[in-house]
Amino acid sequence: MQVEQRTFIAVKPDGVKRGLVGEIIKRFETKGFKLIGLKMLNVTQELAEQHYGEHKGKPFYNRLIEYIQSGPIVAMVWKGYDVIHSARQMMGSTKPLEAQVGTIRADFALVKEYNVVHGSDSVESAEREINIYFKPEELCDDYENMAEKVIERLDD
Ligand code: RTP
Ligand code: MG
Repeated sequence: MQVEQRTFIAVKPDGVKRGLVGEIIKRFETKGFKLIGLKMLNVTQELAEQHYGEHKGKPFYNRLIEYIQSGPIVAMVWKGYDVIHSARQMMGSTKPLEAQVGTIRADFALVKEYNVVHGSDSVESAEREINIYFKPEELCDDYENMAEKVIERLDD
C-alpha cells in the first residue's frame, strides 16, 4: 500500500439535490484528509462513459450513465494516508442497506441506484478518475495540512 495516496470522490446528483454536499465534505475533512481539488459540474455523456467505462455492457450501465447526469455533481480530490481504502470504508457498501452503520451510504441512502457518493476503488482508478475530472493546474496541493503531519510521524 502506498502511504500517501490521492483519491477521487464525488457527491452524486442525488446527494447534491438532497443538500448533503457539506455533510460529505465534513466527514473527509474531520477524518483528517487534505482537500486538494473541488468543483461542481454537470457530467456530459462523454464524461459519464469515460468515468464508468468499466461497467459498459452490464445490465445497470445505461441507468448508471443516466443517473450520474441527472443533476450536477461535486467532484473532489482528497489526499492522505491510505485515503483510497479509508474513503471506501467511510462511504460503505454499494448497497446502502448492507453498508456498515455510521457510513455515508448507511446513514443517508436506501438503494444502490441512489447511493449519494462515488469513490475510487484502486490506485489506478483514482489516478484515471482524477485525470478525467481535473487538470493538474486545478489541484491545490501547496498548502500545509495535518494530513502530511500524520504521514511524517508514521512508524514503519
Ligand atoms: P461507485 O463506483 O459509484 O463509487 O460505486 P461502487 O464502487 O460502490 O459500485 P460499482 O460496482 O462501481 O457500481 C457503480 C455504481 O453503479 C450503480 N450500480 N447499480 N443495479 C446494480 O446492480 C448496480 N450495481 C451498481 C451504483 O450506483 C454504484 O454505485
Ligand atoms: Mg465503483
